[in-house]
Amino acid sequence: MARLLIFGGGRMGGAVVGGLVRAGWADRDQLVVVERRQEAREAIAARYPAVEVVEAPGRADGVVLAVKPGDLEAACRALPRQEVGRLLSIAAGATLARLEGWLWPGLPVVRAMPNMPALVGAGASVIAPGTAAAEEDLAWAESVLSSIGVVVRLPERLLDAATGLSGSGPAYVFLVVEALVEAGVLEGLDREVARVLAVQTLLGAARMLDETGERAEELRAAVTSPGGTTAAGLRALEGRAVRSAFLEAVAAAAERARQLGREH
Ligand SMILES: NC(=O)c1ccc[n+]([C@@H]2O[C@H](COP(=O)([O-])OP(=O)(O)OC[C@H]3O[C@@H](n4cnc5c(N)ncnc54)[C@H](OP(=O)(O)O)[C@@H]3O)[C@@H](O)[C@H]2O)c1
Repeated sequence: MARLLIFGGGRMGGAVVGGLVRAGWADRDQLVVVERRQEAREAIAARYPAVEVVEAPGRADGVVLAVKPGDLEAACRALPRQEVGRLLSIAAGATLARLEGWLWPGLPVVRAMPNMPALVGAGASVIAPGTAAAEEDLAWAESVLSSIGVVVRLPERLLDAATGLSGSGPAYVFLVVEALVEAGVLEGLDREVARVLAVQTLLGAARMLDETGERAEELRAAVTSPGGTTAAGLRALEGRAVRSAFLEAVAAAAERARQLGREH
């Protein structure tokens, strides 16, 4: 039985554990969570009886590193040298070079950038291989992260671009929903009704994109009848350069990710 260690049982580590348990990993592998906070340890033990919860790391075939960036170096150095098979880091901003510098030569390392909807099993993660990571290590990282959403492979140099799009993206979407709710209220809708309609509109549009496989521009054209209401609404958005605002938002977030990567 392979031993998979989830290092850090906080929000993200907890989401990964939940995803792995739901995907049946606890039946095949021994899942172990390393967590120093007693409260978090008790919560995980109560929620996932099949998972072992410990305070310090030990031997592992695979490690998922899910501690805050400030705790990363200590966590890497706490791992038993040569007793770990491979490592997947989901910490934002920590480059492969930095991670590998804290570990030991030859250890296959994969760096991932998941996003917040992983907490509900609908995340979007990108992964990049370190110097010693082979195809089988990427496939392993992919299978771990596919338990919390979709996974895309990228070279590390594109991880900051993905951070600007999918990493920060949920916040852009939350802002859009906030604005739609306010707009509904302005038009006389009850706030709760406006919220239900805005959220379902987003969910419905996302599911159409996902399930039909059609491109966004095709679906938008299909819902925009000549001289109709949607065309009038879209004209207002184009007049306010909303498309360009999103280009700027993703570029600004990606640039900030590059900057933070250089600072650390
Ligand atoms: N949350 C997100 O949406 C998101 C998205 C993308 C990436 N990430 C990445 O995921 C990582 C985890 O984020 P999070 O939000 O899950 O953080 P979190 O809730 O603070 O979880 C980290 C947990 O690990 C514990 N820990 C830290 N060092 C430890 C050690 N040496 N031994 C044992 N336990 C230790 C922490 O304990 P203490 O509380 O005592 O520090 C905490 O309970 C971060 O690196 C973040 O960049 C998060």
